[in-house]
Order: sequence, then structure tokens, then C-alpha cells
Amino acid sequence: TYSVCVCLLGLISLSVTLDNGLLKTPPMGWMAWERFRCDVDCRDDPENCISEGLFRDMADRLVEDGWKELGYEYVIIDDCWMSMLRDKQGRLQPEPSRFPSGIDKLARYIHDHGLKLGIYADMGTHTCMGFPGTTLEKIEIDAQTFASWGVDYLKFDGCYSNPVDQMLGYPLMSKALNATGRPMAYSCSWPAYLGGLPPYVNYSLLGEICHLWRNYYDIQDSWDSVLGIVDWFFNNQDELQPAAGPGRWNDPDMLIIGNFGLSVDQARSQMALWAMMAAPLIMSNDLRNMDNSARAILQNRVAIAINQDPMGIQGRRLLQEKSHIEVYWRPLSNSASALVFLSRRTDMPYLYHTSLAKLNYEAGNYEAYDVFMGSMVKRLNATTDFTISVNPSGVVMWYIYPEQSKKTATIHQHHKEASQFHKAKPEHHNVL
Ligand SMILES: *[C@@H]1O[C@H](CO)[C@@H](O)[C@H](O)[C@H]1NC(C)=O
Ligand SMILES: *[C@@H]1O[C@H](CO)[C@@H](O)[C@H](O)[C@H]1NC(C)=O
Ligand SMILES: *[C@@H]1O[C@H](CO)[C@@H](O)[C@H](O)[C@H]1NC(C)=O
Repeated sequence: TYSVCVCLLGLISLSVTLDNGLLKTPPMGWMAWERFRCDVDCRDDPENCISEGLFRDMADRLVEDGWKELGYEYVIIDDCWMSMLRDKQGRLQPEPSRFPSGIDKLARYIHDHGLKLGIYADMGTHTCMGFPGTTLEKIEIDAQTFASWGVDYLKFDGCYSNPVDQMLGYPLMSKALNATGRPMAYSCSWPAYLGGLPPYVNYSLLGEICHLWRNYYDIQDSWDSVLGIVDWFFNNQDELQPAAGPGRWNDPDMLIIGNFGLSVDQARSQMALWAMMAAPLIMSNDLRNMDNSARAILQNRVAIAINQDPMGIQGRRLLQEKSHIEVYWRPLSNSASALVFLSRRTDMPYLYHTSLAKLNYEAGNYEAYDVFMGSMVKRLNATTDFTISVNPSGVVMWYIYPEQSKKTATIHQHHKEASQFHKAKPEHHNVL
């Protein structure tokens, strides 16, 4: 039966693509799940329950607290927004006591703030929390409903379905979204339900039908959870890294920075590693109550610029040292690159000695910007050793590029481009 399914899938995929120009860089925004879960208790917890007020509050904060101008633009509803019953026409509807104005009005509110609205549905008989699912025959009507409301992004989960339904349903939803005529970003949880790896997951196909996909388990509010995700993604980088590119992203799940589980160093580590993975920067936290260190990490302009690099090449883990220092590398536009040094140690700041040549850099002189310290590292000769200090469960993150000199800039085109890039991105210098 497996080969029959693969054939069916092949036929469907011939006629399906969702190349509507969206998400040329990873999406940025806010999503409800990790922080607010399925809190439907609006009587005892009105501020935090899944309701239209929560999403309006987050939209207000995104605009007023500087998030939107940095690129955080999606406000995404997760599970538990629905009524237990479809309406008389068979359409999904929001739970009226928690969304009395309806999703279309909420979408208008979000759009009036210059933001975009995401919503959640589930390929299966029920959502993960037991609300109405989207079975194969409901895919078209649900896509039409979301488009009619002005939805901009769909997270399509996969609880309560089997691999055959998934194989049919995820491509069908892609086609149905396209057929609405409304450009919507499409996030597929499909690979997470198949173990995330080939041969069960076909990343070429996913790249054609979805803009992003969840590969692995849900994130939880802990450093252990972050490390488990990081290990899985980089242990499988040979399979996963080539799957990513503009319009097609691996999704290691939400940023939990600003919640309860991470220290300041661990929060920097999550931001750094998500930037290296070209991961969606979708926060799940309470934007109404966040301390300044979490805000500064999430609003770090250079970390964001690295994440949003237009080439869209996902980074790789280069080294796992016996000292429990790990080195990650991501190539960036204009001859630049990013390096992250992560300490898995639990004792004290560790002095790590290396050189750029040991990290595969070509001979020459470089400059680096220390992303979280906000300082420059000048005159880095590739062959000369340098020493950095990495905190336990922390990172040092560098944005690095060939040293600019007027002579080389006129001789080598890539140096010229690099200097233009550094001029065109004044924020790199403002933060120095
Ligand atoms: C539908 O798919 C076509 C072909 O890939 C694409 O050109 C178009 O932009 C898509 N439209 C929407 C609304 O997704
Ligand atoms: C994976 O999907 C692509 C694109 O649809 C298709 O060309 C390819 O044959 C599929 N690979 C496998 C092993 O099924
Ligand atoms: C880098 O250092 C090496 C050894 O000190 C030296 O030979 C080389 O000229 C330097 N390279 C540059 C581009 O300055």
C-alpha cells in the first residue's frame, strides 16, 4: 500500500505548487501556543485565555513596542480558537464567547495595524486539543473560509490522521489555498508526524507545497527542550540543511525567550542558533510583560539580519569539541558569514582558542561584529589564533566579513559589494 500512496502523491504533486512569492525570508511574528496553550478559562483568567482580546493585545504591543518595524509581523492563533461545532454550511467558526466579533473583524484589526493574521487547523478528524478537524472533504471549504476572513497564514497540524490522509491532505490544502486567490503562507506539520527524516519525508515535495514545516517535537519552556531540538536539527543537518531556502523553511518551533525557562545566556543561545538555522522567528511569550534583557535579545538587529539574510542558506554545525564547545557557521550575502560558539559546559566561562583558518576560512584579514556584546573585533588574520570566552550554556556570536580597504574594494568586486552592504545597513554601525 505504501507504493500506491507514493504514486497517488506523485500525481497530485504534479499539479500543485504554492509558489506565491511569500516568505522569501523566514517569517517573523508571535504565536500563542507555547505560552498560552489551550487556556480557555476566560472567567478566571481573562487576560491570558485564548480570546480575541489576547490577539488584539499582542498586535498593539507589536506595533507600539518596536517589534513590527524590526519585521515581527505575523500574529498567529494556535489551537483552541474554534467552536466545537461547524456552522450550518459546514464552516469552521470561532467559539463565540471568546471571539464575539469573529475572525474577520480580528483580521481587520490586525491589518489596520499593518500586521498579518495567522490561524490554525488540523489535517485529521480533530485538532490536537479535540476541536473540529479538517478531514479531506473539508479542506476546500476551510481554505475558502480562511480566505474569506482575510487570513494570511495557516498552520496545518496533523493530530488524529494517518499517513495516507496526510499524504493526500497536505498537498490538497496547498492547492485549495492557492485556489482561493488569496496569498497565504502555509505551514505544514506533516514531517513532524513522520519522524522528520527521509525516506518517510520528501523535502523536495514539501518545498513545492509548503512555505515552512515543523520537523520535530513541540518546544517547551526549558533549556533541555531547546538543546534537544538543537541536537536533533544539527545531528540531521545533512538531510535538513539542503531542504531550506527562500520560500521553504525548516521550523524548529517557537522562540521561548521572555518566559520562565531560560537564563539570559540561554536566551541568547536560542536567538543565535535560530538565526543560524534560518528558522522562523516566531515568539511565544507575553509581550505585555517582558524584561528588558529578553526584549533586547529578541530585538537584536544584527541577529535578525543574520536570520533574514536574503540568500536563505541554513547554517551548519562545524565542530563539536571534546571541551564541549560547539562551532556553528552560516554563509551570508556579500561575502559575510556568521559564527556561533556554543558552550555545553556547566562549570565556568571557557577560554576557547582557535583561528578562522581552522574554521575553513580563506587566508586574509577579516573584521567581526560581536552580536551580543555590540563590539568590533578588528584585524582578524585568518591564520592567527584568537581566544574567546564562552559562558556555560551561552554563546559568542560573530557577524564576520573580509576587512574593507579602499584598495581591495576597487580591485575585487565582492569586496565592493560588501562595502556597499555595510553602507546600506546603517544599523550595523549605529549599534556599535
Ligand atoms: C497559485 O499558484 C501559482 C502557480 O504557482 C502562482 O503563480 C500564484 O501566485 C499562486 N496564487 C496564490 C494565491 O497562492
Ligand atoms: C519527492 O518529491 C519530488 C517532487 O514532487 C519528486 O520529484 C520525487 O520523485 C519524490 N521523491 C521520492 C523518493 O518519492
Ligand atoms: C596573515 O598573517 C600571516 C602570518 O603572520 C602573514 O604572512 C600574512 O601576510 C597575513 N595576511 C594578511 C592578508 O595580512
